[in-house]
Amino acid sequence: MAWSDEQKQAFELNRLSWDERVEAHWESDMYRRHAADLRDGRPCLAEHIVRDVGDVAGKTLAHLQCHMGMETLSWALLGANVAGLDFSQPAIEKAELLRRELKLDAHFVCENVYNAPEALGRTFDIVFISVGAVCWLPDIDRWAQVVGSLLEPGGRLYMNEAHPFADVFDDHPDEPGIVVTYPYLDRGGLVFDSPGTYADLDAQFQHTKTVDHMHTIGSILNALICAGLVIDHFEESARCVWPRFKVMQQNGPDDWSLPGPVLNKLPNMYTLMAHKGG
Ligand SMILES: C[S@@+](CC[C@H](N)C(=O)[O-])C[C@H]1O[C@@H](n2cnc3c(N)ncnc32)[C@H](O)[C@@H]1O
Repeated sequence: MAWSDEQKQAFELNRLSWDERVEAHWESDMYRRHAADLRDGRPCLAEHIVRDVGDVAGKTLAHLQCHMGMETLSWALLGANVAGLDFSQPAIEKAELLRRELKLDAHFVCENVYNAPEALGRTFDIVFISVGAVCWLPDIDRWAQVVGSLLEPGGRLYMNEAHPFADVFDDHPDEPGIVVTYPYLDRGGLVFDSPGTYADLDAQFQHTKTVDHMHTIGSILNALICAGLVIDHFEESARCVWPRFKVMQQNGPDDWSLPGPVLNKLPNMYTLMAHKGG
């Protein structure tokens, strides 16, 4: 099925925004710290992710929407045979730069995630997806079909993603807290015009407009089930790896939470593990 002109424009708006953010991300404290981990021979992945995914040595792993490839290269460091895909050419160039510097084996491809099966041209033991990926995608059912077709029978999907429920909130300019602002159910693509970026809140950009497609937990689970995946584990967490709201308090590197009365009371992220049925 072809994309509508509106959907094509949304991809283009988002791609321009991501392309422009790459340099600021590369120079940001957060990604410098992740690159430094890799240079020191440590994966820049949270411990729970490494533990949940388990031994990847000798396994094939596709990382969808891999950005500058730091997590992809972490899996390579842990012995996986990895491919990373992202539609931002500058992001893929940074991934390649780091891959060459670290002398790691990884295959990076610049392509829209919906074209991943053709662009990667093979199937994998593991598909890995991490924070900030599915909100950019207009069609969650089609995305799940992509995931399904990339997996070997019995192959596993691991997602550590931003929880869509928290997307109902926004910072309020006049109130010292977050306020219910957006719908959770029945929400199509929303255009946002936001300054800065999660890795550098003060950075200035020309391309500030993006189209964000929030997908409910139910729609993600159903899409994966319809694509032939069996859900093995689903877990929600209050922890957040970036300052999603201005009111968040920082507890440590890549560790933020909502303060005060809502501390540990609202989901910010989720982990989903599934496998492709035989
Ligand atoms: C929030 S970043 C992922 C960050 C990553 N988890 C990390 O920690 O570095 C989202 C990525 O999705 C990519 N992206 C957005 N829409 C895409 C699409 N339709 N196809 C491929 N990549 C896309 C962007 O270029 C960006 O690199």
